[in-house]
Amino acid sequence: MRTDTAEPVRLKDYRVPDHLIDKVDLDVKLRATATQVTARLSIKPNPKGRPDTPLVLDGDGLAARRITLDGVDLDLASGFVTPSQLTLTSPPQRPFILEIETELDPTANTRLMGLYRTGHAYCTQCEAEGFRRITYFLDRPDVLSVYTTRIEAEVSEAPALLSNGNKIAEGKIDGTSRHFAVWSDPFPKPCYLFALVGGDLGSIHDEFVTRSGRRVALGIYVEHGKEAFATYAMDALKRSMAWDETAFGREYDLDVFNIVAVSDFNMGAMENKGLNVFNDKYVLASPATATDADYAHIEAVIAHEYFHNWTGNRITCRDWFQLCLKEGLTVFRDHEFSSDMRSRAVHRIADVRTLRAQQFPEDAGPLAHNVRPDAYLEINNFYTATIYEKGAEIIRMLKVLIGDEAFAKGMDLYFERFDGTAATIEDFISCFAESAQRDLTQFSRWYNQSGTPLVSVTAVYDPAARTFTLDLSQSSKPTPGQPTKEPFVIPVELGLVAGEHGDLKLRAGEEDGASGVELGRGIIELTTPRRRIVFRDVPVRPSPSLFRGFSAPVRVEYDWSESDLVTLVAHDSDSFNRWQAAQTFATRLLLRSVEAVRAGGAPAYEPNFIDALRIVTETSADPAFTAQVLTLPGEADIAREIGQDVDPDAIHVARKALRAAIGHDLSQPLLAAYARLEDKGPYSPDAAAAGRRSLRNVALDLLVSGEIPEGVRLAAAQFASASTMTDEIAALGALSQAASAERETALESFYQNHAGDALVIDKWFALQAMIAEPGALARVKKLTAHPAFSLANPNRVRSLIGAFAAGNQTQFNAPDGSGYDFVADAVLELDRKNPQVAARLLAAFRSWRSLESVRRGQAESALRRVAGSPGLSPDVRDIVERSLA
Ligand code: ARG
Ligand code: ZN
Repeated sequence: MRTDTAEPVRLKDYRVPDHLIDKVDLDVKLRATATQVTARLSIKPNPKGRPDTPLVLDGDGLAARRITLDGVDLDLASGFVTPSQLTLTSPPQRPFILEIETELDPTANTRLMGLYRTGHAYCTQCEAEGFRRITYFLDRPDVLSVYTTRIEAEVSEAPALLSNGNKIAEGKIDGTSRHFAVWSDPFPKPCYLFALVGGDLGSIHDEFVTRSGRRVALGIYVEHGKEAFATYAMDALKRSMAWDETAFGREYDLDVFNIVAVSDFNMGAMENKGLNVFNDKYVLASPATATDADYAHIEAVIAHEYFHNWTGNRITCRDWFQLCLKEGLTVFRDHEFSSDMRSRAVHRIADVRTLRAQQFPEDAGPLAHNVRPDAYLEINNFYTATIYEKGAEIIRMLKVLIGDEAFAKGMDLYFERFDGTAATIEDFISCFAESAQRDLTQFSRWYNQSGTPLVSVTAVYDPAARTFTLDLSQSSKPTPGQPTKEPFVIPVELGLVAGEHGDLKLRAGEEDGASGVELGRGIIELTTPRRRIVFRDVPVRPSPSLFRGFSAPVRVEYDWSESDLVTLVAHDSDSFNRWQAAQTFATRLLLRSVEAVRAGGAPAYEPNFIDALRIVTETSADPAFTAQVLTLPGEADIAREIGQDVDPDAIHVARKALRAAIGHDLSQPLLAAYARLEDKGPYSPDAAAAGRRSLRNVALDLLVSGEIPEGVRLAAAQFASASTMTDEIAALGALSQAASAERETALESFYQNHAGDALVIDKWFALQAMIAEPGALARVKKLTAHPAFSLANPNRVRSLIGAFAAGNQTQFNAPDGSGYDFVADAVLELDRKNPQVAARLLAAFRSWRSLESVRRGQAESALRRVAGSPGLSPDVRDIVERSLA
């Protein structure tokens, strides 16, 4: 563990390692509180490194028992080894063997990094820097080694022994109650991809035959009794393997692929070579316990971790600054997969919603950072929406810019050229520069400048000249460490919509000096601060449809008229922008309402908006799309649009009023949709069936908001008779909108029905944490004492405290500061157990500066209290200091 005064690690200080470790032989004897690890490291000087430098191996809280160099014991008392370092001042200038014996206490490991216990298993998590909690090592991703791992344990305690690669031996240990297994992974890998699992687990097995005929044995290991809940994950795995062959030409490379689901896990999942370890939330599903959204997440995370086998494992990162090289790219790949498995249009809307909800606020606040950062204090704090989601958007943008063919060629080049290496963003980009024959230097600014650019657009129609002139300009606000920015390359995919006649043919004329307009695809590149483009032969004033498909991760400013927006909702050929037009209309209305409410008036009402929604509800053939159109921007989205002097209560009142108006005014079409879309026949998790359920449940929620008596009756009936978790939790959510005795009864009966199923009870925690009423905090506090809650389990923390902080805008931001104090206290308590999860929870404060002054003052004092607390972890210290900077 680093100390409070640690210096940041900087990209510009990168140096190749002076030593390499070619081979690692591990022998792990699992015992609850005294696991013995023997690591035999084949070390050599790196011919590309500096000669005659000391060898410094990383450690974190380690206890060395014995260390030998080429078989000769080193004196542990001589001070060359501490819990956090092993230093050989003058190591041999030839290959040598260092054998290190450490002893670990997996039971006491509450940080869930390194080797720890969870449920009936021992498991490891090494990314980013957890391997150094197992043994001393060059814990950096550019040191690649071949691993052999022998695991030994009590047969009764851990009948299943798993590690990376293929199993090469196993057996009983004579005269004892113990057994062992030996695994060998032929692919050189960085230590962050190491994993082992030992446990008493149930499992399901299947097989996948790759296109070249390799038979791969697939296994998913779960808690005993949960085997049937893993079948959807297995199905998703097989579809992922097949898809990566056809979409990216990537074939699996080992004889075995195992997944282990554990209940205590800091993140979603981990792509260890041949042995993925998962938060069980992203494996276990049944219709009665998992929602459609859960199924979609399982499919996406299974795919994501599997896809890492090529983008992450075969080609890894040179250093942690390149994290987006594997994460952004792999998220891009899993988005593509999900789009192919489901509806591409609807999926795009969902992805953009996530980006705006999670990444935009990060980019707009004190925690903003580059997609490729240039310094960090604690790398675990950089597993962010910026690295993951914006990282994926950059790649998508690249594809839009250079076209599908050059993109595919560039990917092939990348796989060919960098297989087996630890690469950089420059390596990656160079492949596309080559395949597209194009200079991507300016494009690379997306990796090196933070913040969300704003693109402002104005238009003039000249009926006499039949021209439509668009003026585009880009600007970027200062972000931490970056007062000014250079212009980005921004692909603007656009269309001009002429009412019900749809898209006009685009003909561009003069545009002040700039070239490179490619109007065949309707893509304009904005590479300068401003650009004008004049469209010719435009017969009527069109409604511009800008950034179709969300062609760049920017904010857009354009003064659409209400009739433009209605036109776009109804007639845009780009379904993303049909949805976007409804969102833009809603946002505009909501901002007006917020002002009115703050001035003591009534929320705004706009029949044109409701009519636009009515048209979609009555005419759209795609229920999933309609559900998205009927879902207003969230309270946090509205807050971000307002940007400063934010009053969360006014936002809540405004949004609630608009929802009530929709539910009231559209009660007939909503009731009709509800009746029409009833599930008939057996349950299916597919996108079409899920889409029908989603519209039905959105309709139900709006009807209850609109206080339509029939809606309330339907919600109660649906709650009582639901056969899927999707319908059950949706009905409970609808019933929870207003305080009532029925709500409490329903909550109690939900608990009784699902007690003991931790993942379902998490939904129950989250739903209550998000009730937007003054009693919510008291309820959450009370629930922290509930027997089903535990601060030691990250899923519980995220469901109860995380949902309150991130999903309950009015109560977390209560003007008396009580919400902030509660979360700050939780962060401090949690920090002693699990700094990574504590730091993530603290990031809920990231938008504090945009609040009105009373709340801003309260949030600041809570943050200062955290900052002033003794013994903070580097993780929490980093977040709190950046938040206050
Ligand atoms: N690589 C894992 C994933 O896909 C995440 C691991 C995060 N680990 C951490 N310590 N923050 O996506
Ligand atoms: Zn990942």
